[in-house]
Amino acid sequence: MKIALAADHGGWVLKEEIRQYLQENDYLFEDYGTFNNEAVDYPDLALVVAEAVRRGQFDRGILFCGTGIGISIAANKVPGIRAALCNDSFSARAAREHNDANILVLGGRVLGSGLAREIVKTWLEAEFAGGRHARRLDKIRAIEEKYCRSSENRVQI
Ligand code: RB5
Repeated sequence: MKIALAADHGGWVLKEEIRQYLQENDYLFEDYGTFNNEAVDYPDLALVVAEAVRRGQFDRGILFCGTGIGISIAANKVPGIRAALCNDSFSARAAREHNDANILVLGGRVLGSGLAREIVKTWLEAEFAGGRHARRLDKIRAIEEKYCRSSENRVQI
C-alpha cells in the first residue's frame, strides 16, 4: 500500500509522528510537507494529496491541519475523494468499512500522538465492507456527477 501525506503548519508536528509510525511499520509513503511551522494554506496541501490519490498514484492519503476541518473540506471537493476526519478509532474503522474513505484526516491541535497512532493503525488495517454501503457510495458518485460538468471531472476512481 502506498500512502501520501501532507499537512499545513497546524498539523505538521502530528504528521511527523505519523510519518515515524509508517516508517516503523514498513509502509511505503511520500511526504508532501509542510516541514515547519511557517504558515501555509491548507487547500494547497489538500489538493496535492487528493489529486495524487484520485490519479491512482497512491492507494490512500493522510492529511493534517489544526482541526482537520479545513483540509477535509478542501480534499472532499476533488471528485472520487472520500476524506474522513476521525478523532477516534471507532470512526476510523467505520470510515473504511462503511465509507471506503481513501483519505484519513487528523487534527494536529486536537489529537495526542498515542491516539493518533491508534487511529491510523485502525484505518490502515480496516477494509471496505461493501454490500449496502456500496449502494450509498454510488449515490455519492451520482451527486458528484450532478455537479461536475467537465468530462475530466466525470472520471471515477
Ligand atoms: C491554521 O491556523 C488553521 O486554520 C488550520 O490548520 C485548520 O485548523 C483549518 O481548518
